[in-house]
Amino acid sequence: MAKKLYIKTYGCQMNVYDSARMADVLAPLGYAPSATAEDADMVILNTCHIREKAAEKVYSELGRLRPLKTQKGERGEPMILAVAGCVAQAEGAEILARAPFVDIVLGPQTYHRLPEMVARAARAGSQVLDTEFPADGKFDFLPETAAPQGVSAFLSVQEGCDKFCTFCVVPYTRGAEFSRPAADVVAEARRLVAQGAREITLLGQNVNAWRGGDGGFGGLLRRLAAIAGLARLRYTTSHPLDVDDALIAAHRELPTLMPFLHLPVQSGSDAMLAAMNRRHRADDYRRIIERLRAARPDIAFSSDFIVGFPGESDQDFAATLALIREIGFAQAFSFKYSKRPGTPAAALPDQVPEAVKAERLAALQALVAEQQRRFNAAALGREMAVLFEKRGRHQGQLAGRSPYLQPVHAAAPDALIGRVAPVRITALRPNSLAGEIAATPAEAAP
Ligand code: SAH
Ligand code: SF4
Ligand code: F3S
Repeated sequence: MAKKLYIKTYGCQMNVYDSARMADVLAPLGYAPSATAEDADMVILNTCHIREKAAEKVYSELGRLRPLKTQKGERGEPMILAVAGCVAQAEGAEILARAPFVDIVLGPQTYHRLPEMVARAARAGSQVLDTEFPADGKFDFLPETAAPQGVSAFLSVQEGCDKFCTFCVVPYTRGAEFSRPAADVVAEARRLVAQGAREITLLGQNVNAWRGGDGGFGGLLRRLAAIAGLARLRYTTSHPLDVDDALIAAHRELPTLMPFLHLPVQSGSDAMLAAMNRRHRADDYRRIIERLRAARPDIAFSSDFIVGFPGESDQDFAATLALIREIGFAQAFSFKYSKRPGTPAAALPDQVPEAVKAERLAALQALVAEQQRRFNAAALGREMAVLFEKRGRHQGQLAGRSPYLQPVHAAAPDALIGRVAPVRITALRPNSLAGEIAATPAEAAP
């Protein structure tokens, strides 16, 4: 009998990818995706622990789901409720105690055991907790038949982190760095392309620390770029320490590797970078950017920033703003430092007052917004290669992305979905660019 599965995903792209894999492993049990929790037989919250706010959302969502589960149970329609992801890994048994109506708590490394956990929860009616880091990785159990992802697909190649930035929970929730073997990655990429993907974004908490085969991450990009039918390659998130010569060469030599890189720096102050245990200085970061620009002159950059890290002075913060101006980031994600239990920075003196954090965040975001506006404005009148992904909101219109991930809309026939076409940018909209097809695409992806 067909059952319905509703997954709510929080946090990073790795979680988005993992949610799709959980749906894949549950499909053989008869679970089909559902758009709402109301008509689901199983609900999974795939959670994020990165900042306090992210973790709190889980408990408020559980609070909303509780009466739903009770009502459904009274109607004789039992609902299985599972909490997965990084809050599950970090808080495990605490979730079962705080929310006793939760059936399953599972960490990010045990998704392949989900069918077994569902059977146990249904059979015994008791709670199941699995937050191990099993020796057999979840990637060894990916079903061959995964639901297609469409024109732009994600592929997880690396997981975990050995860097231990002092503010961050990821090394604890995701465990040690692990790389999927090159052959597995290439096979999955081929399958995605056969299913219609034209763009693949490689994912990892430290994606460029991938060590699953010869030539390192640059070598992997080279092998993937050779797959016929794949028009675009991207990767996220990378760490400055793992940008090596092979990766820079890949940016120089592979036209499919898109000229837009998210390379988090966190701060422009050497004192803060040291206290964060980033293990690079602001100048090291500048040198990396210079080398990438020399390799690929049209490259643009995005970054992550934390404001109000313990001990951050006005001068430290000014150094961050100066670095943002200097590099000219086209985009950035920025966050107020959030104290995470168990991380070294949580115990540091000189925690920055909330009001100061808020003020700095607003200043930083205003600067980035201005730079982003200028970056988008520079596209006006230019021709850009756009990969069309789907129909737009208006009749006869398609939506796609520029090489810089800017959303672009243009009047175009459906036949261009899944193809790269030159588009002349004619207008700037608040969250996208509008344009016209500049010519018939000479060489379009198959
Ligand atoms: N592995 C990636 C991303 C980690 S999480 C990297 O190293 O860049 C994404 C971002 O969340 C981080 O880059 C950082 O800017 C932010 N972040 C992580 N922990 C945080 C904390 N305790 N408080 C505020 N922001 C945090
Ligand atoms: Fe967290 Fe630092 Fe690892 Fe990124 S590199 S996941 S910020 S510890
Ligand atoms: Fe959040 Fe875990 Fe990703 S803490 S950002 S879901 S790795």
